[in-house]
Amino acid sequence: MLYPQSRPAAAAARLRRLIGELRDLAWLVRRRFGTSDDRARQYARLTLLERAARAIMPEYVITEHSKLWFEDDRFLEAYDRLEHGRRRSADRKYLVRSFAASVADLPGDTAEAGIYHGSTSWFICEALRGTGKTHHAFDSFEGLAEPGGADGQFWRRGDMLASEELARERLSPYPAEIHKGWIPACFEKASIEALCFAHIDVDLYAPTLEAMRFFYPLMVSGGVIVCDDYGFTTCPGAKRAVDEYMADRPESVVHVPTGQAFVVKR
Ligand SMILES: C[S@@+](CC[C@H](N)C(=O)[O-])C[C@H]1O[C@@H](n2cnc3c(N)ncnc32)[C@H](O)[C@@H]1O
Repeated sequence: MLYPQSRPAAAAARLRRLIGELRDLAWLVRRRFGTSDDRARQYARLTLLERAARAIMPEYVITEHSKLWFEDDRFLEAYDRLEHGRRRSADRKYLVRSFAASVADLPGDTAEAGIYHGSTSWFICEALRGTGKTHHAFDSFEGLAEPGGADGQFWRRGDMLASEELARERLSPYPAEIHKGWIPACFEKASIEALCFAHIDVDLYAPTLEAMRFFYPLMVSGGVIVCDDYGFTTCPGAKRAVDEYMADRPESVVHVPTGQAFVVKR
């Protein structure tokens, strides 16, 4: 407000704003249901969704509609089967799948640190099916270790406890090796000559740093490391680990709006 208002004037202004909002909403609902124009209906639906999100969760940013990948039925059908219809990580899995597919012609295997029930590893394996690469999957299957001082307050020991059986069953059709154990000890069980793609998704500072230490030197030129947790306020330790490790290295850490970050090895 630019100038102080009297109480009745402020109340009248609030009422006018409310009436304006209700008129807008009525117009949007009429557009949503009362037009055969697809574009107008789409616009009305997204705007209604934005209004609802703004009321319920004002800090949430609704993304654009009409993206091609929303129509990728094969991807979404697989995603829904693996994630039981909770689509909130679909954008991240899509990005991982695209990166994995993009390095198919490079030498080297693939890896994931922190596989949980194996969904992202499944997308990596599926994207590179028939290329002869082995996928190395590392997990404690005991959830997270005790968070440290860099990790904030969000996580607890044992969070993200996954079913080893489910992960093994999902990856069984592929040339995947599952190395069970705590990071970094489980890295020693793997025999890897080179990597062209690695996904790090362990939420905390210490295992993220250990995964960077293990994966980065194995990366071939042009290979990609994706850190799932880099841009999440719930995972301050993951960002710190990646930034610290990359600080005196030539590659940039590219932070993307999905919350992930990636590094392309030179
Ligand atoms: C967020 S979940 C991974 C989700 C998975 N990448 C996906 O996209 O479906 C984190 C996983 O990291 C594993 N994890 C975390 N810290 C670990 C550590 N220090 N050693 C081994 N596994 C760890 C947990 O057991 C859990 O399965």
